[in-house]
Amino acid sequence: MIRSAVRGVGSSLPRRIMTNKEFEKLVETSDAWIVQRTGIRQRHIASDDETTASLGEAAARNALENAGLKPDDIDLVVLATSTPNNTFPATAVEIQHRLGIDHGYAFDMQAVCSGFVYAITTADLHIRGGLARRVLVIGSETFSRILDWSDRTTCVLFGDGAGAVVLEATEGRGTIEDRGVLAASLRSDGAQKEKLYVDGGPSTTGTVGHLRMQGREVFKHAVGMITDVIEDVFAKAGITAADIDWFVPHQANKRIIDASAKKLGIAEEKVIITVDLHGNTSAASVPLALAHGVEQGKIRRGDLVLLEAMGGGFTWGAVLVRW
Ligand code: ACO
Repeated sequence: MIRSAVRGVGSSLPRRIMTNKEFEKLVETSDAWIVQRTGIRQRHIASDDETTASLGEAAARNALENAGLKPDDIDLVVLATSTPNNTFPATAVEIQHRLGIDHGYAFDMQAVCSGFVYAITTADLHIRGGLARRVLVIGSETFSRILDWSDRTTCVLFGDGAGAVVLEATEGRGTIEDRGVLAASLRSDGAQKEKLYVDGGPSTTGTVGHLRMQGREVFKHAVGMITDVIEDVFAKAGITAADIDWFVPHQANKRIIDASAKKLGIAEEKVIITVDLHGNTSAASVPLALAHGVEQGKIRRGDLVLLEAMGGGFTWGAVLVRW
């Protein structure tokens, strides 16, 4: 059977690093509060010349180099983002063009922080359905552009950046030992929209709008939702937490990550953490953490890697990948 194996991974971060201390001059907050409540110490913030497209392009080029491939080898680009360069065309199409690819197809996926988990699942289906052989799956965001910089309950939490993986069609035997995307579980529920949303849009206000979040309310739901989809993935794959080599969660809050890992029985040393360095980069957070895990020599070929994310919508999901 056809599987979608990971052939390469890459990332790109804006030049400018913004520390927690800098926020003390903007809003009533402190480095100690931010670290204790979230685990965040710094985040990267895009300058005017850095966009979702430029960061996504750079991450894609790094992933291609890591894979030993050229842009021409790619026949599908899937970009997970909630902060596109324009309302349309899709920023994925712009990235496809920036890479010099003039064949195949490209599209954006919008599932907020769960975007990459949705995108890699979708890319896997396009490969297994025979539509594409090599796919760039990118998560790229510039959330700094939709933050209300006077709202201390949200502006300290987010950062900008991009991560990318190259998936390639490969022959598998249909077992848990196959390389590639092995199982996935995706969910959404619009009933909780007002707890995390952007208060603008082309069809309502005609503006871009700002991110609004009832953080405590989101927190209350997060661990239960995350662990539900992970247990679904474990059941589908016929595995338990003990079989996982690396847990790569969405990096929103260290306390949510710790509580989820504890509830599932995943050992602390198997968890990839980047929230301290990047803050919450929404759809970019999981591929940035994957790239970090590979660069650190942690995630290696053959490892069983569990991805999860939860975000606005609500949307949430988990994916199991044999690296
Ligand atoms: N600095 C200092 N004090 C602050 C700050 C700040 N930056 N922000 C809030 N406070 C205050 C609050 O006003 C509150 O004060 P009060 O008790 O006088 O009312 C107090 O700190 C505690 O606030 P809580 O909101 O209860 O703090 P909590 O421990 O819940 O932490 C946080 C807040 C970090 C936002 C947490 O709730 C969280 O991480 N939520 C989930 C976020 C998330 O996972 N989002 C999903 C992904 S994002 C996406 O999809 C786009």
